[in-house]
Order: sequence, then structure tokens, then C-alpha cells
Amino acid sequence: MSLLITNIGELVTNDPGADDLLGVRTDAAVVVADGVVSWVGPAAEAPAADEVFDAQGRAVIPGFVDSHSHLVFAGDRALEFQARMAGESYAAGGIRTTVAATRAASDDQLAAGVARHVAEMRRQGTTTLEIKSGYGLSVDDEARSLEVARRFTDETTFLGAHVVAPEYADDPAAYVDLVTGPMLEAAAPHASWIDVFCERGAFDEDQARTILAAGAAAGLRGRLHANQLGEGPGVRLAAELGLTAVDHCTYLTDDDVHALRDAGTVATLLPGVEFSTRHPYPSGRRLIDAGVTVAIASDCNPGSCYTSSLPFCIALAVREMGMTPGEAVWAATAGGAAALGRTDVGVLVPGARADLVLLDAPTHVHLAYRPGVPLVARTWSA
Ligand code: NIG
Ligand code: FE
Repeated sequence: MSLLITNIGELVTNDPGADDLLGVRTDAAVVVADGVVSWVGPAAEAPAADEVFDAQGRAVIPGFVDSHSHLVFAGDRALEFQARMAGESYAAGGIRTTVAATRAASDDQLAAGVARHVAEMRRQGTTTLEIKSGYGLSVDDEARSLEVARRFTDETTFLGAHVVAPEYADDPAAYVDLVTGPMLEAAAPHASWIDVFCERGAFDEDQARTILAAGAAAGLRGRLHANQLGEGPGVRLAAELGLTAVDHCTYLTDDDVHALRDAGTVATLLPGVEFSTRHPYPSGRRLIDAGVTVAIASDCNPGSCYTSSLPFCIALAVREMGMTPGEAVWAATAGGAAALGRTDVGVLVPGARADLVLLDAPTHVHLAYRPGVPLVARTWSA
């Protein structure tokens, strides 16, 4: 079954071989067949296909790649958000509130929550997403969190090292032993990645090294939450270990920026977190100008950022992080793919996965120009 999408006013391909960042084509068409893009070119030269869809001059972009979310949870923390907006500061300790609710929920309840949030994401143009555990913090609760996440994506991340579980508050070393031992063993069959929240109040550099090394030995690729609440060693550790991506990057020294550039580690910015915690937005401009690859992701979670919307994050990145609309759209598509080590998504070139978003707008710029407006007219997902 082949589909021709034609009369596309502006097609964002993210073709790495193009002269411009987004590989924009005007008056374009795309053919998809068997779940992959099979042809891209001028609408006037499009080959025949089984079905034809007329985009009526609107824009088509690659589906968003959300490389960072925490969708396996129960409950919410609206009161915590309300208190922050009245002047309280964000504290990672709030994670334990969600841990209690998550442990009390059945697998079916957790899966229903993930399904609801994944559907929200899809309506807003996300076609590839990563999901982390990290609200179970026991062997069984981490394993079942990942088992639930795996029903929705192959990009699952074991985040047993989110914070020290409450029962281990007096013995963090024993908790690290649990994470690197029985918990990792139970989690690894359901995960592709391992992550550590490397931050004051969570895990320090040595603990992060130990946990990432154990994960690597179990076949999991590493990623880090780092430099979210203040400067620290996490970003430099990610670069030293040559990790694919390091996420948050809110507080960066010049040395951190240079280390990211030299290592080729993707900096994943999460502007919804700064929106929701009132921390200062990091500068995407500074990173891009230094030659660092930047991704934008949602970090959707009930504590620090409860949005599932990459269009919202794109608008924030443009308004608050010094990025152009084109850079922000790239960061939420090809950038997200880079943050997951993927080349089959985030681009619309022959051979890529047939994940496309039709905008109710003539250009990608409208995603930031018309913030808060539901511009995703429809998605096609392989
Ligand atoms: O990515 N930084 C740590 N973890 C999450 C927040 C989790 C929470 O507050 O529940 C984050 O922001
Ligand atoms: Fe996160």
C-alpha cells in the first residue's frame, strides 16, 4: 500500500545533505510505502501511488522525537506546582510523593496513564518517544514500570537511580548496591538505556559512574540527568564517558560546553522544566554557537514539568532560549533522534521511517509564532 502526500507548501526534510538546516522544499510531495519514505521531490514530478492525500499547501514536518519522558507514574502534584508559583522552590524530594502513588497503583492503572499521555503526545505530533522508569525505586516496581513502558516504546530507560528510595534514606550506599545488583538484573530485560539523576540531593559523580558502569556491563547505554538545579559534575561526566546525550543542562560552565562539543554528546534541553520550576532558561544559542548538538524534549512528568507538548517546548525554546524557529524544530525532530542515537527518525528522506506531521499552517515557523494553538492537523506513523 503506497500513499502520495502532495501539494505540500513547505516540506521540512532535515536532510543532512541539504544546504539549509531544515532541508526545506517547497511545492513538494512525499511517497510512503511499507512504513518508510520511498520518494521525496517536487509535487509536479510525483509518481503514482495507491492513495493520494492533498496537503492543500500546508506544511509537513518529520514527527517529533521526544527523547525524555517519565510517563510511568500515578497521581499528580498540582498542589506542589501551585506552591511553586506562589514562591516555593522546586525540590527533587517531591519525587517521593509520586513514588508512593506509583507503588500503590496496579499495572493496569499505570498502563492506562501511559496510554493517556502517549495519546496526548501523538495528538501533538510526537511519533517517537522515550519513557523512563524511576517512580518505583524497588526491584519489583522498577521492573513492572519498565515492562509497562515497553508496551508503548522500544526506547525505555531504567532510572532506578532517580532518588534514593525512602527505605534507604539512611544508607544510600546500600541503595546503590540494590540499583546495580538485583534491580538492574530485573530491569535490564525491559530497558535499552540506563539513566542517573546526577545532582546534589540525588546521586553524586562517583555513584553515577558506578551505576552507569553496571548498566553498561548489563548491555544498557548510558544517559544522565545533570546540571538541572545548579552547576555540577554531571555534564562533564557525560562527555568523559562519551554518552549519547545528557539532559537538562540548565547550569553550564564554559568548560561544560566545550566538553560537550568535543565529545559530540547531545545536550537535551527541557524548556518545560524551567517554565514549571521557575529556574532560569539555559541558552540554546550559546550551545549551538559553540558547536554542540541540541535536542529539545518534554521531560513530561508530574513534578518538574507536566506538559506532553513538543510544540509548546519549541515555542519556549524560541522565546526563552535564543533559538530560531528552525533550530527549535530541528532540535525536537532530528535533535531528538540524535539524542537517542537514531538516524531512521527525525528526517524525511528515502529510507526513513514514515513518521510525518501535517501542520494546520503554511510553515514550521508557525509552531512558535502561534504558541498554544493546536496546529497538528494529523500525523502518519509507521
Ligand atoms: O527530569 N530531575 C529529575 N527528575 C525529573 C523530575 C521528577 C519529579 O519531580 O517528579 C526531571 O525533572
Ligand atoms: Fe527527567
